[in-house]
Amino acid sequence: MRKDAAHIRSLTNRPFAINLFVEPKPEPIDTGALRAAHERLRPYYDELGLALPAQPPLPPDHFAGQIEALLQIKPTAFSFTFGIPQPDILNAVRSAGIYTIGTATTVEEAAALEAAGVDAVCAQGAEAGGHRGTFLGDPRQALIGTLALVPQVVDAVNVPVIAAGGITDGRGLAAVLALGAVAAQCGTAFLRAHEAGTSAPYRAALENARDDETLLTTAFSGRLARGIRNRFSIEMDDPQKRAPYPYQNALTRDLRTKAAQAGNAEFLSLWAGQAFSLARAGAAAQIVRQMLDDALKASEGAVKVLAGE
Ligand SMILES: Cc1cc2nc3c(=O)[nH]c(=O)nc-3n(C[C@H](O)[C@H](O)[C@H](O)COP(=O)(O)O)c2cc1C
Repeated sequence: MRKDAAHIRSLTNRPFAINLFVEPKPEPIDTGALRAAHERLRPYYDELGLALPAQPPLPPDHFAGQIEALLQIKPTAFSFTFGIPQPDILNAVRSAGIYTIGTATTVEEAAALEAAGVDAVCAQGAEAGGHRGTFLGDPRQALIGTLALVPQVVDAVNVPVIAAGGITDGRGLAAVLALGAVAAQCGTAFLRAHEAGTSAPYRAALENARDDETLLTTAFSGRLARGIRNRFSIEMDDPQKRAPYPYQNALTRDLRTKAAQAGNAEFLSLWAGQAFSLARAGAAAQIVRQMLDDALKASEGAVKVLAGE
């Protein structure tokens, strides 16, 4: 984190954010269950012609160190997902002058984040690519579309709302601003950027898949996440087969890396939001510029329609 922050600061004076997964310490897992979940990955390694690692890897426990680094780096903003930091941590971050942004997938979560004292809420709609941020209740019930979620969260809280989920071009940006969001958080829009670390098979899937080909799966990490469907995401989306989060995430990391290296998109997490087909290839700065221009055009178009022109 310190190295990355120094690198960013060597390139720009602009503000940047650090994002962390915030969650309670995982329940200890039974060694037998962990070994069994690890063993279920063997056929996938076999297909890649590789050996299953001898020991099931365990998830790292970096959180305390990450918070220490965050407080030292002092980025402009700290955004987080999967929960709410303990009050002492949130207070320390805010006292350091860092702007805090929590992720909500329901109005209840947004209210809980506001009550905890965050500076802004990111409302993550069901269209979003990657992991669901849900931390209260059943993630499969917390699948409210961005169009429905954002205005409900805007009405429920007094802090600024950042919209996320399915905002992949200027039209989406204009739409969420009209819903009352102050900003958009885009993930999928940048997956085809030159600067993105998206592997070649992942880029190919983004170019070739159809709009109805994303799905929500727990196969890769044990937590619900949206990506382009492939064999692993379907075959292993079963709590009887996989380990719970974060153990499954650690178990599949090596497989995902090796699959990417082998050019195999079937065993790779292809995180993508529902509007992935709108994502353009190009420099990240160009993608942002285009999105801003197109949002302005979309807003002007909307004004004309409303004015009856
Ligand atoms: C490849 C990928 C990785 C992501 N990683 C994170 C993450 O580490 N932390 C986080 O808060 N959200 C993460 N997200 C979710 C985004 O913050 C955001 O909610 C989502 O991308 C918005 O929907 P969109 O993908 O349709 O733009 C990720 C999304 C994608 C597509």
